[in-house]
Amino acid sequence: MNKNIAILSGDGIGPEVTAQAVKVIEAVEEIFGHSFEKKEALIGAIAIDATGDPFPKETEEICKASDAILFGAIGHPKYDNDPNAKVRPEQGLLRMRKNLGLFANIRPVSSFEALLSLSPLKEDRIKGVDFVVFRELTGGIYFGEPRGRSEDGKSAFDSCTYTDEEIRRVAHLAFKSAQNRRKKLTLVDKANVLATSRLWRQVVIEMSADYPDVELDFMFVDNAAMQIIQYPAHFDVVLTENMFGDIITDEASVISGSLGLLASASVGSGLGLYEPIHGSYPQAAGKNIANPVGAILSAAMLLEYSFDMIEESNAIKSAVNQAVEEGFLTEDLNKENAKSTTEVGDKIAQLIRANSSVLES
Ligand code: IPM
Ligand code: MG
Repeated sequence: MNKNIAILSGDGIGPEVTAQAVKVIEAVEEIFGHSFEKKEALIGAIAIDATGDPFPKETEEICKASDAILFGAIGHPKYDNDPNAKVRPEQGLLRMRKNLGLFANIRPVSSFEALLSLSPLKEDRIKGVDFVVFRELTGGIYFGEPRGRSEDGKSAFDSCTYTDEEIRRVAHLAFKSAQNRRKKLTLVDKANVLATSRLWRQVVIEMSADYPDVELDFMFVDNAAMQIIQYPAHFDVVLTENMFGDIITDEASVISGSLGLLASASVGSGLGLYEPIHGSYPQAAGKNIANPVGAILSAAMLLEYSFDMIEESNAIKSAVNQAVEEGFLTEDLNKENAKSTTEVGDKIAQLIRANSSVLES
């Protein structure tokens, strides 16, 4: 199959981990006889340096002309402590999500059997954890207007708004996912305080009539933050708004042992964007130490969700599992015998090739 993939490696460790994901995709092309054209484009702080814009028009066009997007990370410390910066890398990410209609962010959370002891949580709590968070991505307080500062600069305001349609379209995806999983959906909100949360509940309750096989329950976000740590195995599909989803998915990542392991997909109106959830991790940039597994698993999600290539996606996931089981891991997960970013990428690509030749012979 011929496909176009836009490669937006971005800032910090983004380029290093994305390069490993590309290696792995190339192994898949070779083994399964596909041809993917990969076009690189700028986003984030490097795009600001080169063009003054964190999501340049050219990048947007390359994305729109592609079948899927592989994304690394965005952010640079020089902007973090400058509240007066007019242009920020994160604006590029938000504009990209909005302009490409990526309204649903899907973040799977599971534990690797071989890494149970590395999680800060007790093994018996995290064994067998397997849930997925559907985070609304283009609405809520991240985008609501009005926002800004009062004239005297002494107060500031953000607005949280949601329309029933914005809730409905992401909720449908979450309900459908639950139907294909363990048929449990938890809506995380703050309906005891927020009007937007009450709208979420109303809409999701109405919709549940169309999904009678899915058991729906509700959890306030403060309680959910506690339950995710105390009883993570309770969850199957979690549905939540933009800001709550941002927070609980970082929290949930500790279950797997390292933020560096988790992948995500952002989907909506056709095009899909795939990225590790770890962010730009500037302290590690250029050191060849960052964990590429989240980026590699993002490539696996890309093949599955955007190209419907289940076997290809599984080939990546099995190779990752093997590398994890062998302890062939970067320093965040294996201090004594740490491998570099490129070594882990090479190893996983090599395992994909080796597994396929075993199948052939
Ligand atoms: C994420 C990130 C972004 C977000 C930042 C970088 C704007 O934290 O993808 O979770 O808040 O959505
Ligand atoms: Mg986040």
